[in-house]
Amino acid sequence: MLLMPVVNLQEHAQLLAESGKRVSVLWQHPDTLAFIARGREYRSEFHINPSDETMYMIKGDMHLHYRTAEGKEEIALIAEGAIIYTPAGTPHSPRFAPEAFALISERKRRAGEVDRFRWYCPKCDELLHEETFVVHDYAEDPVSKAYRKFFDSEIYRTCKKCGAMMPAPQAT
Ligand SMILES: [Fe+2]
Repeated sequence: MLLMPVVNLQEHAQLLAESGKRVSVLWQHPDTLAFIARGREYRSEFHINPSDETMYMIKGDMHLHYRTAEGKEEIALIAEGAIIYTPAGTPHSPRFAPEAFALISERKRRAGEVDRFRWYCPKCDELLHEETFVVHDYAEDPVSKAYRKFFDSEIYRTCKKCGAMMPAPQAT
């Protein structure tokens, strides 16, 4: 990897689309980590990151669902060309189409830090399930791994409070 990589975001997004992958890491260093992400057809998890994040929309719009300190779900629209800052510890769920691309900037995790993925009941908003991960390398695509663990389990997806079940995503 170049010591000082210069990345054309449009070209890199195009390469990612052609690869069929979801994530392309640009660089990973202790204080700066950047990757381009392609949207997903279906997104329901909330990510809790021990690092601050910024998300810049290279192509297409994003609806960033997030939860306030009081636990209320809000939605921020990040239009193409716009950027948002998300403080560490904010549960957030980036929802954007497979044809849309975002530049995500964070930092590498420090020793002992864990990332959390949470799902909430679609009916009563109770916490359904939490997956925790130690993110060693973003190229391992931790979001996809968390999804498989959650959606493979009807127990995880069923609300202990009201009994509602979060439906599995349609196969794509
Ligand atoms: Fe519920």
